Amino acid sequence: MNKKIKQKVLITGGAGFIGSHVVRLFVNKYPNYDIYNLDNLTYAGNLENLTDVESKPNYNFIKLDISDEKEIKKLFERYRFDSVIHLAAESHVDRSINDPLSFVKTNVIGTVVLLNAFKNCWKHNFDNKLFYHVSTDEVYGTLGEEGLFTELTPYDPNSPYSASKASSDHFVRAYGETYNMPYIISNCSNNYGQNQFPEKLIPLFINNIINNKPLPVYGDGNFTRDWLYVKDHAIAIDVAFHKGKIGETYNIGGFNEWKNIDLVKLLCELMDVKLDKEKGSSEKLITFVKDRPGHDLRYAIDASKIKNELGWQPSVIFEEGLDITIDWYLENTEWLEHVTSGLYQSYYKNQYS
Ligand code: NAD
Ligand code: TYD
Repeated sequence: MNKKIKQKVLITGGAGFIGSHVVRLFVNKYPNYDIYNLDNLTYAGNLENLTDVESKPNYNFIKLDISDEKEIKKLFERYRFDSVIHLAAESHVDRSINDPLSFVKTNVIGTVVLLNAFKNCWKHNFDNKLFYHVSTDEVYGTLGEEGLFTELTPYDPNSPYSASKASSDHFVRAYGETYNMPYIISNCSNNYGQNQFPEKLIPLFINNIINNKPLPVYGDGNFTRDWLYVKDHAIAIDVAFHKGKIGETYNIGGFNEWKNIDLVKLLCELMDVKLDKEKGSSEKLITFVKDRPGHDLRYAIDASKIKNELGWQPSVIFEEGLDITIDWYLENTEWLEHVTSGLYQSYYKNQYS
């Protein structure tokens, strides 16, 4: 995509965790683009994530469900977006275990509705158009103790969440093959950072330590994830959106594997210092609980393709990113209170009781 051409960019899920960082980056970096943030503000979407950009002249917000075929069609007819960066999704594995259908509705049907609207808008001339699909490394299933996911690793999803994301990836590819629709897909590892909803491991545990609540570690805690700072993911999306090759997939990762239990212990250590607590007191909150069904043992990304071909690599080292993240949660207690009231309370009770 040419950075100089004025274009209308639709970013879906821009009120969520990663989406809000992508919206901020694009609104500030590309004042000549018109950015449309489309989000239906589920429990995970929060416009408080974007107060610093909401009054910028190139920022627009549209509240809409991506699976609403009629309204999405009308929207594309009205605005004729040149490109889409698609992040809107149901994103939490534990919720997908309890309610797979809502993941099918948003992640599969919602994606196909967007693909269709985009195709119908530009099918006579796709020049300079792009559908950029944001996906996850979880589509590849689980690794054993060795090896890394590459772009050629066969899909083998194990949770309803990853099955729905895998399905959406397949539909994007199919639209590329069948209708010549220009697309790029990126599959990223676990993100952490500011504005992540406190149901995912890192913000949940920060919030629980603040509130002196148990830290529910699933199984024996010997599950490995590859962690990437969210702003580095946003930069990777920017790079792949502008420099990536049409029809390609890029794996994005942190080159940063941690066993859950080691990560949790590090987090406890840092929190003791930040909260001026006696050394070891946060660690006493660790509670081993029943394992997640179908729990993937290990994810680890080989991100050498995006590094070698597009020149992207993570810029923030994990300890530094975690430090910034903890400080952000400690300074934004009002944000935390807002997102953890209401519906979240009943989810939490149900999940951990
Ligand atoms: P999130 O749950 O924080 O945000 C999702 C956003 O999508 C929310 O703002 C929500 O309101 C919106 N949304 C949900 N359903 C919608 C619908 N039907 N219509 C319109 N908007 C809807 O998710 P996230 O962690 O920011 O993830 C964003 C994307 O990145 C997802 O596609 C996810 O699969 C992918 N991803 C996430 C991670 C991670 O570690 N969080 C890693 C790799 C890829
Ligand atoms: P999570 O943040 O839900 O991301 P994902 O499942 O998409 O990787 O979980 C990260 C890891 O932490 C995963 O192995 C599950 C584990 N975990 C716990 O041990 N306890 C918890 O309460 C949560 C939410 C996750």
